[in-house]
Amino acid sequence: MFDDLKVPQELMPSDPRFGSGPSLVPVDFLKSLAETGVHLMGTSHRKKAVRDLVGEMQQGMRDYFKLPKDFTVAIGNGGATFLFDMLALGMVEKKAVHFVCGEFSDKWFKASKKIPWIETEKVEVAAGDGITPKAVAGADVIACTLNETSTGVQIDSFPTVGPDQLLMVDATSGGGQVPCDVSKTDVYFFSPQKVFASEGGFFVAILSPKARERALKLAADKTRYIPDIMRWDLCIDNSDKAQTYNTPAISTIFFLNEQVKLMNKIGYAGVQKMAQAKADLLYGWAESKPYLSCFIKESKYRSVAVATIDVDEKVDVNPLIDKLDQDKIVYGIDAYRKLGRNQFRISLFHNITIADLEKLTKILSMAIESKL
Ligand SMILES: Cc1ncc(COP(=O)(O)O)c(C=O)c1O
Repeated sequence: MFDDLKVPQELMPSDPRFGSGPSLVPVDFLKSLAETGVHLMGTSHRKKAVRDLVGEMQQGMRDYFKLPKDFTVAIGNGGATFLFDMLALGMVEKKAVHFVCGEFSDKWFKASKKIPWIETEKVEVAAGDGITPKAVAGADVIACTLNETSTGVQIDSFPTVGPDQLLMVDATSGGGQVPCDVSKTDVYFFSPQKVFASEGGFFVAILSPKARERALKLAADKTRYIPDIMRWDLCIDNSDKAQTYNTPAISTIFFLNEQVKLMNKIGYAGVQKMAQAKADLLYGWAESKPYLSCFIKESKYRSVAVATIDVDEKVDVNPLIDKLDQDKIVYGIDAYRKLGRNQFRISLFHNITIADLEKLTKILSMAIESKL
């Protein structure tokens, strides 16, 4: 259907990667890694070179999120999905309430639900609707997802939780650019393959003193069987020494550190502003075309990290997405597979430039209008 599509040279994006994760790792980062030669990759994570790298990255997070001194930047292998289990096993005392608005928030709820010694409750909205988490009485963990990657919903506001409650935020896909005062959360965690432009299989979990205390208290409770790889006491002890409990992928930490350095030059507020400008561009485009509409109806929940835009059923977007992918012009803008919508899902992650997003909107408009 789009076999004849020719994208003019002036609309060619500088980078084809518009996917919502894994995200665009800058080619400059790959070159910088190569320049470390024989002194980093293939050396021990218990030795100075790697520990200095890890320490620099942890300090970079502290500076970027303006963390109070008593917060912990915990790290480990396994990514956010691994943390879903690790948090439910070792940080929920009796009951967790999960605010669910799509695939990933539901996955986290399901992980918690499997733990036999805790109670779980789900507060859920339909896919495409926004959700505002609340400090539900009787729960000691309030679990919410900063940016629901499957639908493009972001949280509009965060509750103030009670002294015995922990506010946990899965910040995997919006962390770093979706507004959130991390110093007011207890566990703010992410895998770094989204805004933080690295690879998967790794996690950063920023812990408040309250969360650290809870984790260490529950780790001492030997009636709960927790595999060593998921033990918070081991994770925290290693993180305090700028190490991971088991061997990490050094390249992942390297790219993450490069990205934090880059984002620190602009600052958290500046990065959020840039993200909002990209979101305004995308949603403004959707509202200006009769054949497009924003999937998220309430504007306060529209993500500044992942934009979901529905397309009139008269034009099937899948052959267009396939053609742009085949021609290596645009990668990764298909809707979340389980949503099954005629939709573009476009990443607004920090390294994707507004100029490229502008070109992308023009390519898509040109292609769709040629078929109407
Ligand atoms: C919001 C959210 N949470 C969790 C995950 C799972 O991350 P990982 O695959 O690194 O475990 C993802 C992945 O896309 C995500 O978008």
